[in-house]
Amino acid sequence: MKLDTGTELPEKFVLTKEFKNTYDLINKTDTNLFITGKAGSGKSTLLEYFRQNTNKNFATLAFQGITAIKAKGQTIHSFFKLGPHFLSKDDVKELRDKQVIQNLDTILIDEISMVRADLFDSIDLSLKKNRKNEKPFGGVQMVLFGDVMQIDPIVGSDDEVMEKFYPSGPFFFNSKSYSKKDFKQIELTKIFRQSDKKFVNLLNKIRMNKLQNEDLSILNNQLIKRDEVPKDTIILAPTNRKVDDINNTNLYKLTTPTFNYNAIVKGSWKDKEHPVKKEIVLKVGAQVMITKNDTDEPKRWVNGTLGIITFLSKDQIKIKIKDKIFSLGKTKWDKYNYKFSGNKVNAFSVGSFIQFPLKLAWATTIHKSQGQTFDNVSIDLDTGSFAHGQTYVALSRAKSLEGISLLKKIQKKDIIFDARVLEFIGQKLESKYISEILKNAPKSKKKIMPKSTKSNSNEWTTSDDNKLLALYKRNVPEFALAKILKKSITQIRERIMYLMKNN
Ligand SMILES: Nc1ncnc2c1ncn2[C@@H]1O[C@H](COP(=O)(O)OP(=O)(O)O)[C@@H](O)[C@H]1O
Ligand SMILES: [Mg+2]
Repeated sequence: MKLDTGTELPEKFVLTKEFKNTYDLINKTDTNLFITGKAGSGKSTLLEYFRQNTNKNFATLAFQGITAIKAKGQTIHSFFKLGPHFLSKDDVKELRDKQVIQNLDTILIDEISMVRADLFDSIDLSLKKNRKNEKPFGGVQMVLFGDVMQIDPIVGSDDEVMEKFYPSGPFFFNSKSYSKKDFKQIELTKIFRQSDKKFVNLLNKIRMNKLQNEDLSILNNQLIKRDEVPKDTIILAPTNRKVDDINNTNLYKLTTPTFNYNAIVKGSWKDKEHPVKKEIVLKVGAQVMITKNDTDEPKRWVNGTLGIITFLSKDQIKIKIKDKIFSLGKTKWDKYNYKFSGNKVNAFSVGSFIQFPLKLAWATTIHKSQGQTFDNVSIDLDTGSFAHGQTYVALSRAKSLEGISLLKKIQKKDIIFDARVLEFIGQKLESKYISEILKNAPKSKKKIMPKSTKSNSNEWTTSDDNKLLALYKRNVPEFALAKILKKSITQIRERIMYLMKNN
């Protein structure tokens, strides 16, 4: 259960063979790595394990401030002193203090799916420039963690310039400095967050945009009315507007007196880096989330625990968690920077933030929920998902299907899937993901893939090709394409890849 205050190694941490081997690759070699895996496969946990155990000089970075604080690192923008706009060569400057950069062995980036191509190229250029080293990334080992089926980079109003400089797409792998052959791709395959196989398979289908009508109805069985949101449930919504609306409306509805709590802030923190609000406004009865693990043993709450405020005074807050009432103290967060001393790069605190580890928690955005785990979530897709991977991220925060309720039905159009990621992950991994889904499908469904197609020849006429492309662009699922064109799913997939490459 994590939110904002840092990934911690779970009490029941298992050093699987995959973890151990991958750790050794990061720690003992200088290979560039792309470490991927489905939601909940322990990517951020492995990063934390490395942080705690390595002797290398490293920096952990992320695109979102909140992800950076969780990874106990910095944002990419602040580390390389980059502006918050489209980045061209001229934006990459020589840094005044180069010691940290010159002594780095490794850079680790979490949630790489959100890193845009221009930002990724700026990392490469800045490392080359500031280390006076023309090797890729100035000779620094790059270790990227993430899942390209999760939320994609924000392009927004930079769409024209992005289109011009990165016509093949905005992802980090569309950058000039990412080359497949220079990054070894590793997959963490064990899912730790969810244990129910059926649910995991349903999530996998959403992840790969292979949802069928039956799956949608299973999900939409979880539909509830707005006044039926169960206790201790957080609502996930696509936009900040909707989230603030839900939280403020709920707070406003309470008739108890208002209390304000101000943080003590040292050093320079950008608003978006604040681990919790600088000014927290609370009322007795408010639903809140605790954003820090309890330091007492046995633990009374963990990071992510939801509760209800039962008492407020100038300097005391009491919260009911399940059926017990606890008093909550303040927490200190540090903001890290890197410095070179002796011959070691050390993270040191450049600021602190003291506040109650609390936030209003009737609702949060799906973007901010990326990376977290909840027991109970209610999903309000409101006017609809708008980003690649957004619905998958929302649903995969829960540990079980029973832990999900829906305030709006999920529709096919809410599964937004940018097919450019398939070309990147490669046919091998794509086929593996698809065959996992098929293997787990109930027996009767296997009939969807007609056996007879196997004997069909692999010859494609132009009319077949045109038909295939037209249907594919209309998101007709592969099994249906196979049926229509009388080919096997593999043949369909191979042909699509071929046509996409050659058109
Ligand atoms: N090796 C592990 N042993 C035990 N639990 C783990 C392990 N790796 C991850 N977890 C747990 O699984 C959940 C998801 O892990 P996380 O690192 O957030 O996954 P990801 O970053 O891949 O989405 C967390 O609750 C975490 O504590
Ligand atoms: Mg993660």
